[in-house]
Amino acid sequence: MATTELSPLQLGPVLATFERRPDVLISLLQAVQASLGYLPPDAMGAVARHARVPRSRVYGVASFYSQFRFNPAGRRRVAVCRGTACHVSGARMILEELERTLGIAEGQTTEDREYSLETVACIGCCGLSPCLSVNDEVSAKLTPKKVRKQFRAAKKSAPR
Ligand code: FES
Repeated sequence: MATTELSPLQLGPVLATFERRPDVLISLLQAVQASLGYLPPDAMGAVARHARVPRSRVYGVASFYSQFRFNPAGRRRVAVCRGTACHVSGARMILEELERTLGIAEGQTTEDREYSLETVACIGCCGLSPCLSVNDEVSAKLTPKKVRKQFRAAKKSAPR
């Protein structure tokens, strides 16, 4: 996914590739997010006008699907696996530890935009659960203590 940020006012070319109909809403949101990296409020308004639906419907759809984000992603995208194997082996505790250590909740980005935190379905290493990925690098067989150590050290060395 491209993360180059465009002004919402520059969305015209993206919107113009879609017909002005309500049934293109999800595709439209995907295209806008691919262009901006997330869905800022101005873009939601532009999508609503283009698809000819109320803004509340755009928010309803976007908040239903976990693929959509309302904040810019951090330089390091932390994705905690919530697949069945990871869930059974403690993904909830891993997520809670990350929320404490990074000081953000799921779906948020740190103020310095270094980290964003999200959950995903299986990332393909179920035998080594619980797992997470930072960008595309996987950390496996996690415990809350390992997570604390990994992310405290990373936070200290992150550029300010
Ligand atoms: S369930 Fe987490 S890696 Fe498969």
